[in-house]
Amino acid sequence: MNVGVLCSGSGTNLQALIDKAAKSELGPARIAVVGVNVPDCAALARARAAALPTFVIDHRDYKTRATFDQAVLGALRSHQVDLLVLAGFMRVLGDEVLAAFPQRVVNIHPTLLPAFPGTHAHRQTYDYGVKIAGCTVHFVDAGVDTGPVIAQSAVHVLEDDDEGAMRARILVEEHRLLPAVVRAIAERRVVVEGRRVRVLAAKPTGDVIRSL
Ligand code: GRF
Repeated sequence: MNVGVLCSGSGTNLQALIDKAAKSELGPARIAVVGVNVPDCAALARARAAALPTFVIDHRDYKTRATFDQAVLGALRSHQVDLLVLAGFMRVLGDEVLAAFPQRVVNIHPTLLPAFPGTHAHRQTYDYGVKIAGCTVHFVDAGVDTGPVIAQSAVHVLEDDDEGAMRARILVEEHRLLPAVVRAIAERRVVVEGRRVRVLAAKPTGDVIRSL
């Protein structure tokens, strides 16, 4: 399964995918291309360092979202992408892109959705004063962070946390959760039943059998 990853920022989630792929821990998923909309973002440098194919499509070069989307879609198609992963991609994709990848666009969001969707999610979480925070990987629909939840992971917000400490603890979970979901989708273990999404357990690997 060819995975396209779109990023705008530091790309630590991309790096988690790259690292898992290097250890053959993404199952049949391979990162086919990394696209960014911010030309000098660290995610692009990470992709290049891993010798992955890349494209840069700067949204500021496009007058409308539709023309930006078409450019992105063309690039993804040229790399025969099957699964689109939004890993810190700070643009909302329109219907045309979503329709091209039915139930094949996932996003990672640093809250336990449906709490605190949208931008400034860490700030919203911290300022609200919740004691349990976390992250969500979900399918993307036409809304902002509203699609069906695939997987979530929770962390405690500790009494002495500042926002940065909380963010760092959530990020550790993001780096675990996103590759696990990509692998599960590639292994066809993700079953969509309307709003409810079930992730089936992985089959025991040959290694496990050998170790018995
Ligand atoms: C992550 O917190 C992710 O949940 C959010 O944007 C951030 C991206 O971080 N969507 P990185 O670029 O993967 O380091």
